[in-house]
Amino acid sequence: MGPASVAMSMALLMALLVALLGFLGAAFQPPTQATPEAQHGKYAGDPACLSCHRDQGTSYVHTSHHLTSQPANKDSILGSFHEGSNVLMIADPATASDNPGLYFKMEAKANGFYQTAVAGWPGQLQKRSERMDVVIGSGVRGQSYLYWHGDRLYELPVSYWSDGGRWINSPGFKDGTMSFSRAVIPRCLECHATFIQARSPDPLSNQYEPASLVTGIACERCHGPGEAHIALHQAKKTAAASDLAPEAILNPASFSRDRQVDLCALCHNGIRSEELVPAFSYTPGKPLDAYLHPAEGDLAAHPDVHGNQVGLLQKSRCYVSSPNMSCSTCHDVHQPERAAAAYSDRCLTCHRVESCGMSKTMGHKIAENCIDCHMPVESTNAIASETAGQVIRPKMRNHWIKVYP
Ligand code: HEC
Ligand code: HEC
Ligand code: HEC
Ligand code: HEC
Ligand code: HEC
Ligand code: HEC
Ligand code: HEC
Repeated sequence: MGPASVAMSMALLMALLVALLGFLGAAFQPPTQATPEAQHGKYAGDPACLSCHRDQGTSYVHTSHHLTSQPANKDSILGSFHEGSNVLMIADPATASDNPGLYFKMEAKANGFYQTAVAGWPGQLQKRSERMDVVIGSGVRGQSYLYWHGDRLYELPVSYWSDGGRWINSPGFKDGTMSFSRAVIPRCLECHATFIQARSPDPLSNQYEPASLVTGIACERCHGPGEAHIALHQAKKTAAASDLAPEAILNPASFSRDRQVDLCALCHNGIRSEELVPAFSYTPGKPLDAYLHPAEGDLAAHPDVHGNQVGLLQKSRCYVSSPNMSCSTCHDVHQPERAAAAYSDRCLTCHRVESCGMSKTMGHKIAENCIDCHMPVESTNAIASETAGQVIRPKMRNHWIKVYP
């Protein structure tokens, strides 16, 4: 996989989003839904759920949803701080003309882990150093890092790419430059965290209450606030409360197919979406259209494989012709991902080996891997990470299920 390219394309698309939202700034509407704060106020937190739901909980803590953001520490940061592998050189001097001799050094110090940019010539060195405070990305592909400056949150210039286990330029950052000014807007954390309290309703602001950040994607992002549900089941333990009492928690299995897919689409529909309400306002089970507008134009005609599993699956004949097919037909989000070929058993809940023309020549062994032929891994068209003159592109599983040449 090209972890860097994901981060890159993210950064690029975020920039486009920002530009778009700038246009829409005047038309920005205050929320009519529950405010993010009001919702989050009733979150009980994952440890509370785990005390009763060990089936879901013990495996969930190993998923990339749970690990997609973490406080920065020696365990959560995957990149190396060892002498010899803690430097990102800008190898191609042609791309570093603005900052001759530029390199980045990653250092473990007593009070944290730092990225330091160094440029210039001996005697005239320019240096900038910031601490890695928040880790974004489980590391399936890679990680990016954020730093606090007072109550403002920024993205750091160096990211980690798991393929090769190396430091790279953060996606969307220009090769050969030292930028520490990329603002992290709420939408970034809406996809990669459980909550943060923004200080302003402006979707482009990067001012927050730092202590309000809840990292990882918690159970309640998908199930809604759980306090009432917990109180109900605690009461049942001690009293003969009726088994017929409503569960007081959202179970996506009871949503219509479209609302189930909307829940995943909040974060898996590509990132070029127009936000109608502040981040963290979405309530699972509600139509996503009231919160995010689908991207217009180009994206609909040529959906990019990056981060747009919803848009691609919706183009598949499997999906169009099966009113109950959803993401849950294949994925159990409470479990870590399985190897791709293992999902072939999901295909065979609807298809027979014989319905594939290839079975005539290849026989029954096609049952071992329907995936690589019908959902191939492809490089994304989106902008990738440019590091030392080289382009690193992420590869994604194409969710448009069809016959590929
Ligand atoms: C005191 C024990 C307890 C706690 C704590 C608890 N639950 Fe439950 N929950 C239950 C029981 C019992 C059921 C019903 C049987 C089952 O589905 O396991 C249930 C059912 C559910 C269901 C299915 C509801 C339905 O309509 O089918 C979901 C979803 C759920 N819990 C999520 C959560 C989440 C999220 C949390 C943390 C915020 C949580 N639970 C905390 C005991 C608990
Ligand atoms: C709040 C945002 C959010 C929601 C809602 C969400 N996801 Fe994700 N999902 C992510 C992010 C972010 C990642 C990447 C995590 C990482 O590797 O850092 C991810 C990763 C995944 C992966 C890849 C896991 C892996 O190990 O590579 C799958 C599969 C997935 N999501 C399925 C779903 C499904 C199905 C739903 C709906 C039931 C859903 N997601 C809802 C944000 C979300
Ligand atoms: C990314 C979204 C997401 C997250 C995070 C998530 N769930 Fe779920 N959960 C779902 C979906 C979707 C279903 C319905 C699955 C289906 O259709 O069978 C579900 C179903 C359930 C059920 C009902 C199980 C059943 O068999 O009916 C329970 C209980 C549950 N989740 C608990 C949890 C707990 C506890 C956590 C945190 C450890 C959690 N979930 C995190 C999306 C999520
Ligand atoms: C619309 C939701 C969304 C937004 C906004 C978003 N991401 Fe992501 N990000 C994802 C999803 C989903 C993935 C998993 C790969 C995929 O499916 O594209 C991901 C993957 C990543 C990864 C690779 C994680 C891994 O190990 O696989 C990094 C790093 C990352 N994002 C950083 C960021 C940063 C930093 C921002 C904001 C500046 C951001 N993303 C904004 C949804 C989002
Ligand atoms: C929920 C049921 C369901 C699942 C799961 C499912 N499919 Fe399908 N698939 C269908 C239906 C229905 C059609 C359309 C048949 C028709 O229109 O004649 C279809 C069509 C197709 C087609 C033809 C597509 C085209 O554009 O002509 C292929 C290829 C295919 N499926 C492969 C797969 C593979 C591979 C998997 C697993 C990754 C899978 N399907 C999973 C129901 C499903
Ligand atoms: C027909 C089965 C099927 C359905 C339905 C399906 N997926 Fe997947 N998905 C897969 C397979 C297979 C993989 C590859 C898993 C692996 O590589 O380990 C995958 C991988 C992913 C990944 C990881 C990114 C990558 O490129 O590896 C994400 C994120 C994801 N799916 C999200 C979704 C979402 C969101 C939906 C609903 C819109 C969905 N999937 C529906 C089969 C499916
Ligand atoms: C080696 C690649 C390969 C593998 C493995 C494979 N397929 Fe196919 N499949 C194809 C090709 C190519 C076609 C179109 C040509 C044909 O049908 O003869 C096709 C056709 C199909 C169709 C019919 C599409 C239509 O026109 O209606 C379905 C359904 C299908 N495959 C499902 C599956 C399933 C399910 C599996 C796993 C059991 C699978 N395929 C494994 C390559 C493959």
